[in-house]
Amino acid sequence: MRKPFIAGNWKMHKTVAEALETVRALQPLVQDIESVDIAVCPPFTALYAVSQALRGTNILVGAQNMFWEEQGAYTGEISPRMLKELVPLVIIGHSERRKYFGETDETVNRKVKAALAHGLTPIICVGEVLEEREAGQTEEVVRRQVLGAYAGVPAEQARGTVIAYEPVWAIGTGRAATPEDANYVIGHVIRAALAEMYNDEVAQAVRVQYGGSVKPANIAGFMEQPEIDGALVGGASLKADVFADIVRITAGR
Ligand code: PGA
Repeated sequence: MRKPFIAGNWKMHKTVAEALETVRALQPLVQDIESVDIAVCPPFTALYAVSQALRGTNILVGAQNMFWEEQGAYTGEISPRMLKELVPLVIIGHSERRKYFGETDETVNRKVKAALAHGLTPIICVGEVLEEREAGQTEEVVRRQVLGAYAGVPAEQARGTVIAYEPVWAIGTGRAATPEDANYVIGHVIRAALAEMYNDEVAQAVRVQYGGSVKPANIAGFMEQPEIDGALVGGASLKADVFADIVRITAGR
């Protein structure tokens, strides 16, 4: 059985003070939840403060990106070695990174391998854009992204990774995918690609979240689907009470 995992991607929101205010409000609202893994992913500037504030709680902290090199002359970048000191998780290859910052399947693969080499759990984002969906290319695109992300990653490392299936047209639009549709892509495309690269055991072990306009009103529908193991939540993760509702509904509370 895969344990549900709800992660909040704060994107480029919140100062250190705002981040601390949010997690201090969130923590008591979810402290009794044991059946769901919970994470927040603040911007780099708040990672240290938030990771300190949440020490010893049931809320994990993750970064939203990282570079693949360990150190060196890479102005403005953050390395896996630096993150490992602070957090156990890192989002890799979010569609906004692919769209605005030139990330490709190849750079995603380098980052995934670097994260794993440093003991960080990557949340690997995949998903088709609207034109690809309308052209009937969803399966081909998502399959290519999965195969690309995991190229050269050994099975024993792949097993512990997390994937977020985020159809790009559903992100921040208020127009979520249907639970049935997301379940289909996760089962028939993402797990199928993992089974092909590795085996059924790995394909069944990897947790796959849905992401894109998740909110308290629609999370239950996603969680009813057998292939969906949780959610990567953007906008609805910024408010402590709303995010806590998503976590609590996932836990059946
Ligand atoms: P959203 O973002 O929940 O605001 O649609 C999801 C994401 O980008 O991870």
